[in-house]
Amino acid sequence: MAWNFAAGPARLPDAVLARAADELFRRGADGASASERPFTGPAFRSLLERARCRLAELLAVPADYRILFLAGGAMQQFSLLPMNLLGASRRAAYADSGYWSRRAMAEAGKLAEVTVVARHPGEQPLAAPPTGRWAFPADCAYCHITPNETVDGIAYPALPDCGEVPLVADCTSSLLMAPLDVAKFGVVYASAQKNIGPAGLTVVIVREDLLERSPAELPAPFSYRHQAAEGSCVNTPPMQAIHVAALVFDWLAEHGGLAAMAVASRRKAERVYGAIEASGGFYVAPVLAGHRSPVNIRFHLANPALTEVFLCQAEAAGLHHLRGHRQLGGLRASLYNAMPEAGALALAGFMAEFARLYG
Ligand SMILES: Cc1ncc(COP(=O)(O)O)c(C=O)c1O
Repeated sequence: MAWNFAAGPARLPDAVLARAADELFRRGADGASASERPFTGPAFRSLLERARCRLAELLAVPADYRILFLAGGAMQQFSLLPMNLLGASRRAAYADSGYWSRRAMAEAGKLAEVTVVARHPGEQPLAAPPTGRWAFPADCAYCHITPNETVDGIAYPALPDCGEVPLVADCTSSLLMAPLDVAKFGVVYASAQKNIGPAGLTVVIVREDLLERSPAELPAPFSYRHQAAEGSCVNTPPMQAIHVAALVFDWLAEHGGLAAMAVASRRKAERVYGAIEASGGFYVAPVLAGHRSPVNIRFHLANPALTEVFLCQAEAAGLHHLRGHRQLGGLRASLYNAMPEAGALALAGFMAEFARLYG
């Protein structure tokens, strides 16, 4: 058995891969497969509507929010957010919780005056920025957070109190892994390639009143307002990725929805963090307990000289893509929804045995 612990693009559920092969790569009576039909036609429009309704159900999205399926990754949103949300203001607030929030901030800084309202401590043990009531500059258009830092392995234990300032969240590595109270946010967005489907699609859930902020001069494909008005079809959307996303949403609903995903996610994370804790210091988790990501589990070997041996033997045991991010080194195991508990158990078992042999 081979297990893929990649941080993304990530494993899709087996049943989704099988259904996608059947639905996407077979021609129908009209001589066209699902991604060879016009995006304006009834087949794709009903698929898109099914995806939207299913996602709204899974997340219990309130009626005054719009769901957009946009081309590109979360990084495009790093720029589209200020373009759409600044309105008359030039200021936006960002919390620095690690790698991805800093990249979001760097892009926003090209278009807005960015204030860092909270920072993670920087030294180990690593932690999310302290929450509570954050202080914002006057006329701050929005406040951006990254609830789960994919690279650093840090997750916020609680949301900040932003008062009237709309909270915007990059949920790329956490969306659909647990219920989320969408009403607490102005915008929630996520690149598809972790828990939604193939790369090339980003889901943006935006509170309706914020759509008015999109400037008229913004190019139509970049405008949340235009995309909402055109049902995410200002131009040809990433049809294949949306089709696979619809299959993933069906799979989630068939498997108990987000409450069931949250239970499974906790169990998987406990397996791997348990192996770290039980190793008596052979493995080290750099993030403070309570702030550890349940999905991107970061750890290293107390003796870094063993890292390559660990990775080589893990591969031989069918445990793939465990190398940490290129900037931080060490090891990282990502346990998205499609990773069965058996995968986490296989990793935990391998870690215990490796520690016994080399400890
Ligand atoms: C939290 C977070 N934000 C943004 C991104 C960037 O996504 P993309 O490469 O799809 O633009 C990633 C990718 O891993 C991520 O984990």
